[in-house]
Amino acid sequence: MTFDKQQPKLIIHGGASSAQGVDAVRQSLYKVLEDVYGLLLAGATACEAVVRGCRLLEDEPRFNAGTGSVLQSDGQIRMSASLMDSTTQAFSGVINVSRVQNPIELALALQDYPDRVLSDYGAAELVREMALPIYNPLTEERLQEWLQDRQDNFPRKMANLVSTPAGTGTIGVVALDDRGCLAAGTSTGGKGFERIGRVSDSAMPAGNYATSLAGISCTGIGEDIIDECLAARIVVRVTDGLSLSAAFERSLTEAKRNQRDLGAIGIDATGEIAWGKTSEVLLAAYHTGEKIGDTIEWSAEELTGFAE
Ligand code: GLY
Repeated sequence: MTFDKQQPKLIIHGGASSAQGVDAVRQSLYKVLEDVYGLLLAGATACEAVVRGCRLLEDEPRFNAGTGSVLQSDGQIRMSASLMDSTTQAFSGVINVSRVQNPIELALALQDYPDRVLSDYGAAELVREMALPIYNPLTEERLQEWLQDRQDNFPRKMANLVSTPAGTGTIGVVALDDRGCLAAGTSTGGKGFERIGRVSDSAMPAGNYATSLAGISCTGIGEDIIDECLAARIVVRVTDGLSLSAAFERSLTEAKRNQRDLGAIGIDATGEIAWGKTSEVLLAAYHTGEKIGDTIEWSAEELTGFAE
């Protein structure tokens, strides 16, 4: 079958944390961007590109997903990830899974199952069925951070997701392929120091959502993202006729009014790339086909933006 090829588009994020270590964060994001954009140019589907991008970001210990995930209140790592493919409009994901290198792979496998979102015990069963090797995503930096906070009797409500130095955060990828299909993927180690059983937005349509019209991945404080139902809210606005940038502007204005701490990236079916944040920083980078850009040093006051 032949089809009119569309220019692929790509946007990725490494969270909504502090942008200290700007050059290193930019380097990590651009490396992933170039790898995944190359894949899209070679004809990969949006879903394949998103999974590849999430895997690479999960493997980068700088970001709070996969290797380098933050520890929960009991010192354990529990990760969550989801994937949504516009061709099937199917959402799949895992919640609070442990001892696996790439949670996004589980979300991908679940695309083909009738039960598409699994939590801890079920996700562990899936890991076993897939015969994935046992993997410890703990890094020394995350361990020291947790030990320090335990010594101080956990003074912080959460780990270095938003306002502290390390540059960690949820990761996400949104892609438009040359067939005009969209996909979105998001993966996280959670907030850090949360109580056992807390469920992240990253494996909910509030934090990750895609239809044939738009795809969105969110970052920031999960509870704030869930309260705004941010990813689905932006996509619904596009479905109802707003442009992607107008949908971001309206949704982020509401989120700011509600004093939320969050960010989001997205692409629509026309190829528009947009982003927004109420947090201080959004660590995102994009590829339009003609140019690469990022939001890393974007002003703390700006709410939304789009690739020109
Ligand atoms: N947005 C990641 C989390 O709060 O779990």
